[in-house]
Amino acid sequence: MRLALMGGSLRPGSLNTRLLRQLAAQLEARGHEVSTFAGEALRWPLYEEGNVATAEILALHGALQAAQGLVIVSPEYNAGIPGHLKNAVDWLSTLKPSPWHGLPVLLCAASPGAFGGARGLVTWRTTLANMGALALPEALTVPHADQQLDEQGAPRDPRTLAAVPKILDSFLSLVTRLRS
Ligand SMILES: Cc1cc2nc3c(=O)[nH]c(=O)nc-3n(C[C@H](O)[C@H](O)[C@H](O)COP(=O)(O)O)c2cc1C
Repeated sequence: MRLALMGGSLRPGSLNTRLLRQLAAQLEARGHEVSTFAGEALRWPLYEEGNVATAEILALHGALQAAQGLVIVSPEYNAGIPGHLKNAVDWLSTLKPSPWHGLPVLLCAASPGAFGGARGLVTWRTTLANMGALALPEALTVPHADQQLDEQGAPRDPRTLAAVPKILDSFLSLVTRLRS
């Protein structure tokens, strides 16, 4: 399958980017073709009516149109979506054709906090539903990610580590059902 991954923060040491790269590696190891958009690749101008989309914006738009599914790995800022990712979503929602309509999405988050970014994913679900994207009901969250993620972005906690291949299985079967 062709899959896209977007997320992380603009911080060089982003835990979410680390997790995103781990998920991309696992999907590639399963034989899928992945395109990743994280960190500086998402440092876009603020959306403003009349602004022309940059090459970076068009690259993600093209990748989402070509992809059968999208993995979002998002930090939680004040129980919501960080500004740079909301800006990316808004930009993409203005481009034609909409890359969001009918797009299967897996939501993931990592946070040093005890909830693992789960509250931010509630906001993501509202936004994705508004655009017609189809988020998998389950999500992957990594609490205490500053301690729980190893250098390659793999969870150290055995339960969370075991949850990763399971949620990828669930997501890939959703993508197969919707997009085969
Ligand atoms: C403005 C701001 C708001 C934040 N709000 C939350 C929050 O609501 N919940 C949470 O778990 N962490 C919150 N954090 C902490 C982030 O989860 C933490 O900085 C995390 O490492 C960010 O992701 P990153 O490592 O990918 O950059 C916040 C951080 C910032 C800068």
